[in-house]
Amino acid sequence: MTLAGAGKLRKPGRPRPARLLAWYESNRRDLPWRAPPGGAADPYRVWLSEIMLQQTTVNAVKPYYVRFLDRWPAIEALAMAPRAEVLAAWAGLGYYARACNLHACARAVVARHGGRFPADEAALRELPGIGDYTAAAIAAIAFARRASPVDGNIERVIARLFAVEESLPAAKPLIRRLARDLTPARRAGDFAQALMDLGATLCTPRQPDCGRCPWRDACRARARGDAATFPRKARKRAGRLRRGAAFVVLRADGHVLLRTRPARGLFGGMTEVPSSAWAADVDVESALAAAPRLVAARPRFARLEGVVRHVFTHFALEIVVYRARVARGKRARKPARFVAAHRLDVEALPTLMRKILAHAGVAVLPGARRGENTKPEE
Ligand code: ADE
Repeated sequence: MTLAGAGKLRKPGRPRPARLLAWYESNRRDLPWRAPPGGAADPYRVWLSEIMLQQTTVNAVKPYYVRFLDRWPAIEALAMAPRAEVLAAWAGLGYYARACNLHACARAVVARHGGRFPADEAALRELPGIGDYTAAAIAAIAFARRASPVDGNIERVIARLFAVEESLPAAKPLIRRLARDLTPARRAGDFAQALMDLGATLCTPRQPDCGRCPWRDACRARARGDAATFPRKARKRAGRLRRGAAFVVLRADGHVLLRTRPARGLFGGMTEVPSSAWAADVDVESALAAAPRLVAARPRFARLEGVVRHVFTHFALEIVVYRARVARGKRARKPARFVAAHRLDVEALPTLMRKILAHAGVAVLPGARRGENTKPEE
């Protein structure tokens, strides 16, 4: 649609929730965490899916969701699981603080609420890992409360529907208010999921399929002919490149030296290849000072060609990899430990660490089921 063509369109009317709900009934995506139409939603499943879906695509989440539910079918089982097992099952999904919070939240729901999630948003927000968005999503989807979760997809739909000229992130409060005003008192959960599906399937970022949209006559951006240019966004400052070094120690009996990251911070509690700090001004040659030692032995590291690149939300990382081979019988200095290469898959190894190991010729099998698929920040 060109701007010239826009003049032929009628002035947009008020978006009617009923139209979107009718569209949802015949176009809803079939997702493993969704209750069948008319069926009651299970708060545990809704919560688990919403935590996994924070910053992660639907396709990446599906296999993890199915595996988690299979392994921990109820919140009590998850609360009783050792944290290391939960982290290991999460490995590859990214944003690992979520896994720690997931576990802490399961314990809190069991300890404080007898294993039942509270239904109202304020009480949900008191739980670990549940912010405004997730509290609203659970309240609406699991408890049919009139609540309005607004994620990146919904933000885009609302910004277009009302042609919001203000740029994100400053426009967030306005968009939230518009979404709240639009939310019907009944079927708020279906309404939220319908908005999500509309954003994911028709009202897509680059080429919205306005002709098939149930709100095509109500959309102000479409009437102007420039739907694809919404939402407006403030320029983002690119994060500065950080650099670091990682040290892969291979023992002759097929073991690799690993350690566990501190509980707080990036990759908290996850498994890592011993590494230097990451910083903008790291001199990777002198990073050898951070190389791990063994009991009564100092491995001789050789730098491998190339670098491992990884992009986080706020910065990009370049890792230089050093590798050393040591004899059978060498012992790790605590807290590092040698892990058999065929057992790497049960370690909570983030994708970055898998890339580092692969660079050094160590495959984590069965690696194919992994594949971080996190969304870039909106
Ligand atoms: N993204 C976040 N929550 C979702 C849900 N319940 N369904 C589909 N996509 C989502």
